[in-house]
Amino acid sequence: MKIVTILGARPQFIKAGSVSREIAKHKEIEEVIVHTGQHYDANMSDIFFDEMKIPKPDYFLGIGGKSHGAMTGQMIEKIEEVCLKEKPDWVMVYGDTNSTLAGAIVASKLHIKLAHIEAGLRSFNMKMPEEVNRILTDRVSQILFCPTDTAIQNLKNEGYDNLDVKVVKSGDVMQDGTMFYKNLAQKPSCDIQEEYILCTIHRAENTDDVTRLENIFAALNEIAKEKQIILPLHPRTKKILQESKIDTDNLTIINPVGYLEMVWLIDNCSLVMTDSGGLQKEAYFFEKQCITLRDETEWVELVENGFNTLVGADKTKILAAFDNTPAFSDKGLDLYGGGKASENIIKELVNYEI
Ligand code: UD1
Ligand code: UDP
Repeated sequence: MKIVTILGARPQFIKAGSVSREIAKHKEIEEVIVHTGQHYDANMSDIFFDEMKIPKPDYFLGIGGKSHGAMTGQMIEKIEEVCLKEKPDWVMVYGDTNSTLAGAIVASKLHIKLAHIEAGLRSFNMKMPEEVNRILTDRVSQILFCPTDTAIQNLKNEGYDNLDVKVVKSGDVMQDGTMFYKNLAQKPSCDIQEEYILCTIHRAENTDDVTRLENIFAALNEIAKEKQIILPLHPRTKKILQESKIDTDNLTIINPVGYLEMVWLIDNCSLVMTDSGGLQKEAYFFEKQCITLRDETEWVELVENGFNTLVGADKTKILAAFDNTPAFSDKGLDLYGGGKASENIIKELVNYEI
């Protein structure tokens, strides 16, 4: 069996760290990795392949730093060339980025079976590029690997029971990753105080809206007077902050870190504040409360069970959530499959019958 895996953005490298390791256990599977180049800085890309021992990409397309249309269009053209040459049995895509959508479109047009990992998630906010990408990708897939019960239910609500597609509850591949890489964590070399908050911000809905970004940073600056905030800064946000007058003086801003340093920062922090999808779950895996700087989340089970507080970009709500952060209380729940997602996914693909 031959699988062409499409990767492009940081969270996809991290997810592939677990799934590609599982694939490597199966001699009957050949994986061809295509890196679209969506993320290209060394600390947004190469570092993950090196540290996490992800097989080096067989193809590097070099398509990053462009508008949605240019990026997705050029990816479609190049991924099509790869698929015509490689003739895979499956194309495998992760999550909800432009690289995901490009892979999905190519596979569906060439009638190659498409497997979508992290399927069925919805924010119900069609202004998010990610929501568009994941809905379109789900719709043209032959097998949908859902991380949660909520994802399964979302697909049922959209009538997927009546479609010719296999829906599988696989669990969440990011949990596999945290469990595997936890013991390899590395302390970053920056100034780290006894207690600190770990923060990341990169979502278009925050970075591309000056008022939202100003409100978030106003709240962070207040909080940082009390407790250190370490913010590994995404290049998208870095660029926008450089062009703005937003005050970040109180924050400990560092360059994006590799996964092993990130795992250390999550494991040792006292609180996570983020608009990242993946980091919301990782906070939970490391038993940290999370304040989410978004109006909605795909990971609703974290909010429903009190692990995560949604505050949007409202300064008052952010400060109130910080002041009232509850202690983390482990409720013995198995929300994300317990670290077996990659194994489940590959088992399903190997046993898939047309
Ligand atoms: C993308 C995904 C988002 C995901 C995020 C993970 C889409 C639509 N969005 O958002 O869902 O949460 O990745 O991090 O696919 N840049 C660099 N160097 C890099 C990468 C990016 O300088 O290595 C800068 C460029 O100016 C680029 C901008 O960041 O134009 C945005 O990058 P892009 O990949 O378009 O979107 P992300 O915000 O990273
Ligand atoms: N991450 C990392 N280094 C950083 C910031 C984030 O390794 O400097 C990891 C983080 O731990 C998580 C993943 O990147 O595993 C999340 O990616 P991101 O927030 O970029 O995207 P999202 O999950 O929001 O799509």
